Amino acid sequence: MASFVFQTLSLVYLLVIPICTSSLLSHDEEECFALFQFKQTVLHQKLDSWSNTSDSDCCLFDGVVCSNTGHVIGLDWSGSSLSGIINSSSTLFKLVHLQVLNLSMNNFVESQIPHEIAGLRQLRSLDLSNSGFTGQIPNEISRLIQLSLLDLSGNPLRLQNPGLEYLLENMTRLQHLHLSEVDLSSSVPNFLANFSSLKSIELGACQLQDEFPSAIFQLPKLIHLNIENNPDLTGSLPLFHNNTLLEHLSLALTSFTGTVPKSISNLNHLTYLDLQMCYFSGPIPGSLPNLTELTHLSLSKNEFTGVVPSMASLSKLTFLALGQNNFKKRCAYGWISKLTKLDVLRLSSMNIQDEILPYLANLTKLTFVSLDRNLIFGRIPSSFMNLTQLTSLDVSENHLRGQISSTFLNFESLWYLNLANNNFSGTVGLGSFFGVNELEYLILDGNRLSFVTTNNYTNDTLPKLKNLGLSSCNLKEFPAFLREMKMETLSLDDNEIEGVVPNWLWNNSQETLQMISLQSNSITGFYQHPQFLPWIRLEVFAMSNNQLQGRLPIPPETIVIYDVSKNNLTGEIPPFICEMRSLQVLDLSSNKMSGTLPLCLGSLNSPLSVLYLKQNNFQGPMMNICTYGSLLKTIDLSENHFSGRVSKSLGNCSNLEFLSLADNSFEDVFPLWLGTLPKLQVLLLRSNKFYGSIQGLSTISPRFQKLRIIDISNNYFSGQLPDKSFQTWNAMKSVFLGSFSVLGSQVNDLERFGSIEFPYSMKLTNKGVKQEYLKILNIFTAMDFSCNNFEGQIPQSLQDLHGLESLNLSNNGFTSHILPYLGNLKNLESLDLSQNELSGQIPQQLLQLGFLAFLNVSYNHLDGRIPQGKQFNTFENNSYLGNPGLCGKPLSKECENSRVPTVLPPTSRNEYESLLPGDIIDWMVILLGVGSGLIIGIVIGNLLYARYGDWFLERVGMRKNRWVRPLRNTRRN
Ligand SMILES: *[C@@H]1O[C@H](CO)[C@@H](O)[C@H](O)[C@H]1NC(C)=O
Ligand SMILES: *[C@@H]1O[C@H](CO)[C@@H](O)[C@H](O)[C@H]1NC(C)=O
Ligand SMILES: *[C@@H]1O[C@H](CO)[C@@H](O)[C@H](O)[C@H]1NC(C)=O
Repeated sequence: MASFVFQTLSLVYLLVIPICTSSLLSHDEEECFALFQFKQTVLHQKLDSWSNTSDSDCCLFDGVVCSNTGHVIGLDWSGSSLSGIINSSSTLFKLVHLQVLNLSMNNFVESQIPHEIAGLRQLRSLDLSNSGFTGQIPNEISRLIQLSLLDLSGNPLRLQNPGLEYLLENMTRLQHLHLSEVDLSSSVPNFLANFSSLKSIELGACQLQDEFPSAIFQLPKLIHLNIENNPDLTGSLPLFHNNTLLEHLSLALTSFTGTVPKSISNLNHLTYLDLQMCYFSGPIPGSLPNLTELTHLSLSKNEFTGVVPSMASLSKLTFLALGQNNFKKRCAYGWISKLTKLDVLRLSSMNIQDEILPYLANLTKLTFVSLDRNLIFGRIPSSFMNLTQLTSLDVSENHLRGQISSTFLNFESLWYLNLANNNFSGTVGLGSFFGVNELEYLILDGNRLSFVTTNNYTNDTLPKLKNLGLSSCNLKEFPAFLREMKMETLSLDDNEIEGVVPNWLWNNSQETLQMISLQSNSITGFYQHPQFLPWIRLEVFAMSNNQLQGRLPIPPETIVIYDVSKNNLTGEIPPFICEMRSLQVLDLSSNKMSGTLPLCLGSLNSPLSVLYLKQNNFQGPMMNICTYGSLLKTIDLSENHFSGRVSKSLGNCSNLEFLSLADNSFEDVFPLWLGTLPKLQVLLLRSNKFYGSIQGLSTISPRFQKLRIIDISNNYFSGQLPDKSFQTWNAMKSVFLGSFSVLGSQVNDLERFGSIEFPYSMKLTNKGVKQEYLKILNIFTAMDFSCNNFEGQIPQSLQDLHGLESLNLSNNGFTSHILPYLGNLKNLESLDLSQNELSGQIPQQLLQLGFLAFLNVSYNHLDGRIPQGKQFNTFENNSYLGNPGLCGKPLSKECENSRVPTVLPPTSRNEYESLLPGDIIDWMVILLGVGSGLIIGIVIGNLLYARYGDWFLERVGMRKNRWVRPLRNTRRN
């Protein structure tokens, strides 16, 4: 960390008198000799010039200060390119009169700090920062109780056993304590709050733990407090008094919680406040804008709520970051135009619904602007051309529209430009970027733009693009200017590019390209169909939804994500695939591949977490998998011709969340043993030849505790379902009240491509219709046991599955009555009991199913009056067909005995509200509106829309005006 001013100040302060007088006095021979010897050991260029004057007065040399009596009392050789090793016999330790020792910013790599340092008892200032010292800090330093400055920061040092408490115990005179980046792995001692001389504390990135003593904030002389980047350090802000001197406060990347107190405005000297990436919540206090000395303010990535107050008074700000919080949707951001000194402005993802760009027109010092993921509307004003210092502009994922400027020539320093996912329209030409020579990132994906390239360029006008996003830009072919570029990432999804990928695309980029995404075009292959892909550093290869033919192109070993789904590839999976040591996602689904799976898939050494092979012609037995344990979260083998038994090796896949073996020819009993997989959420065995009873469900416990979705329909299962079958299916028991997410696997590589979600997708019959769900919210639960030979009573333990939304037991041989307890499953919206042998009446309790949108009890032996009212008014004849004994609406057959059934009291609104946190509606809208997956397109299950969309709103009368809330951010991956 920059630890700067304080040392220099204290050095001058401590030594001001001796400096003025030293030249008049004689020097201590012995000490000078020691100093020369020390110099020899640390190879010093600047000192080399002294060698021929070695007998002269060392007190005259650069950085050396002597006392009146000729003793060397100060040595400042900071930033002098010193190297070599300082060991315990170093003559440095003979300078026992040293009061100031500064060897910072040198390069003593591999040197430990010798114990002998403690012999320098007079030391008042010890600065060894950023000089490559390693190992344990010697205990003996604790004896240097005169120290007012201790700076060991920026070295790979550690301090353990004894730790920080022991070291500092007696250093009561400390003014400056700087140990940033030293591995302390300890809590902050409470007694520091009694060290009333402390002026600055720098303990960033020290692995600090436990709670930070909040009394330290109140130290009367404290000016500078930096404890950032200690993720395990908790704490909260105290009430601040008005007599504080604090100027610099950074708690970034800690686990501080609570609110920011109103009294923060008492810190009236504060110039630097960094609270980003903590867990602060509540509103930003209205008093914050009273901190008019602030130049740097960062509150981003917390859990702040409420509205952002006007900060017009903070006219000295050069850095402002408020993004990634849960602020209310808000339009009043005009105050930004007052912050004319701003250099950096980061306002991502904070619900800004304002035409904010015109406010920036006068902020001509801006270099870095990120406004992505908001609801910003309007156009890019022409006055934006004033912002000539811009190096980075990100306005992606907003509602901006209009044409894009015809030239960016004003932005001479522009390096990063991201306009993706807005409503920009018209054409934009390559020519607009001629002369913007620094431009490396140009991302225009997902607008309604047409990108026009030209062949009219010279090499000096072309920007040296390395990262280009031209998805949905009406491209008909690969832009020819790519011939001149050494690309790192290239995405040209959703265009109309046909034919083969030309060889020139890899000639230049062979050694640089890391990500290529050409999804949803009409590409048939690669020039000359090479067996191996040419890019030697490729990590992401996304080609889904094209017309690739022939065999699988083999990626280099560096590949992380390999997606060629929805093409016409044929042939087998080559065993090469097992040698991809970094592979995390392998998606070969929806091709025409065949053959058996390579055996080596079972013993992969890669961190594979997603394996999609669905919709191909693979056959034979399922391979062994997860032999050595594994990170696999998703396995989808559905819609192939696999046969035989389910490989028991799946039981080793302890991270498995999603397993689909649907639509194959597996022939086995129910794989009860999958129940022990602790994370399994989705199990799809539909349409195979599974057989036998699934009795065992009730006997062995606990099983399937996380299971949310199970489909075992269309098999030959038989027998009764024992009453206790579902007693441990905990995930289906509770109505969802947590935070929402899309089920899926996340692949992270923050440096390269960031974080990409691979949502689970599946087919499922719901409300009588089989449909494909391309995303599954974590609130969805379903059970489909239809088309088997189950018999006997519907098991009683179903009544505890309060979360269940879809239950399908149709086409079995269930007998007896529809039990009244089904009315307890209040979340149910689809209930199919058709084609069974059920008899008796439809219980009135089913009227309690307030969300029921689909009911089918046809072809049973039911009789009596159909319940009337509520949801039942929405069902039609075909829900009841084939039950000659039923009567009443909607059937035309009237009931003979007009006995009025007991009318249940109307279900109260509150009850529905408790079922559904109000925020769900907000969340839905976001999900529909924001394109999140880079790789996977977005379609949302109709079911969810039906449920939380208009149907739901009208029925429950909960129409609210709060439509939007940001998706919660993934923190600190
Ligand atoms: C601090 O001083 C006390 C009293 O002189 C002494 O007992 C103790 O050992 C000292 N601690 C350290 C770490 O030197
Ligand atoms: C600050 O506190 C002092 C007493 O400590 C008081 O006299 C003064 O009025 C206070 N100032 C403000 C602005 O509150
Ligand atoms: C902020 O400052 C203004 C003017 O100095 C003062 O009237 C107001 O009370 C202050 N607000 C807070 C919360 O300190």
